Amino acid sequence: MNLPGIKDIELERVTQPLEQAHTLPRAAYVSEDIYTLELEQVMYKNWIPVARLEQVPEPGCYLTLDFFGQPIMVVHGTDGEVRVMSSVCLHRAAPIASGCGKRHLFTCPYHAWSYDTQGQLIRAPLMDGAADFCEKDHQLPQIRSEIWEGFVLINLDPQAPALQPQIKGLTEYFKNFRLADMRIVKTLEYDSGWNWKVLVENFMEAYHHIAIHKQTFEPTYHARDSQIPDNSGPWSILHMPGMERTGEDPTNTGGFPAIEGLTDWQTKDLFAAVIFPHFLFATHAHGAAWYQVSPVSAERLHLKIHVMVPQAYLTQDDFDADAAGELAALVHDEDIFANDTVWSGLTAPLTQQGRLSPLEKSIWQCNQWWTRQMTAGA
Ligand code: FES
Ligand SMILES: [Fe+2]
Repeated sequence: MNLPGIKDIELERVTQPLEQAHTLPRAAYVSEDIYTLELEQVMYKNWIPVARLEQVPEPGCYLTLDFFGQPIMVVHGTDGEVRVMSSVCLHRAAPIASGCGKRHLFTCPYHAWSYDTQGQLIRAPLMDGAADFCEKDHQLPQIRSEIWEGFVLINLDPQAPALQPQIKGLTEYFKNFRLADMRIVKTLEYDSGWNWKVLVENFMEAYHHIAIHKQTFEPTYHARDSQIPDNSGPWSILHMPGMERTGEDPTNTGGFPAIEGLTDWQTKDLFAAVIFPHFLFATHAHGAAWYQVSPVSAERLHLKIHVMVPQAYLTQDDFDADAAGELAALVHDEDIFANDTVWSGLTAPLTQQGRLSPLEKSIWQCNQWWTRQMTAGA
């Protein structure tokens, strides 16, 4: 099938039924050639979350980010619509904005060309002698976007199928959590020296609770009870049933009531999900966490963990955003240890593909999807 540095026999081990399947070979994680191919075959063709609507709550609000080397901005237009566009100036390519904020005009720092909130060029000073030049012919390239449950997702491929019809099963599964009604209350940031798939795989299995989260998750969410439903879409769900609680609920830092409308099992269980390639989020009865993953190279990623709670909590006098973020920080510190350990082994030349546990069905699902994407059109 011709993936650089990967033998056919290695891919065949990956695509066996779960009971016989192996992990991806080490080149899938450490090779820059594979990473370059991933950009083309995976990152530029699939839906990737770039913001939450509450991060651009009013007309004029914007945020910028680097999308695999492409400077982009998410802008709440003065017409009320949220758009995503290139933020590279149409004159000589200086990015016209950085960070986040609120404004009705984006003025390039280089020669002061100004754009409105739809990316339309409004004013280009001292261009009088340029033949047939007209501001209205210039608009920043717009990027396809979709809003799902308060998340803004983009896709660089104009031909790619729309996201929402592909994730109906997942949408139904999380419907009661009303993610759209949640708000980010805390963001934790990390720079990590691992391939992005190491993070996704660790996020999507509960097998490691028995060793890595022995004190935090395993007492309530036993690894052996975790379940991963079959599905045919570009996503995976990890369901971690919770024990009947005798002590404190580790997810309920504020002592607030559970999200209204959850079923009994949704009130005590923990859920993690991935929409491929790397839109990761987890939910429990008192909120959610969005892991915003930004791969930087084969060996590096930037991660923002956005801790989210129901909007209703924010009006409570005793709501404490720091407390809401404590569990995420604690658990991620444990996962950093796990991922560092895995990375030190994956970079070793003698490392071979390993057998998967049936408890790692999500990894298997990710790998089937990844292999299909990477070999499509080959
Ligand atoms: S590069 Fe933006 S105005 Fe010149
Ligand atoms: Fe973990």
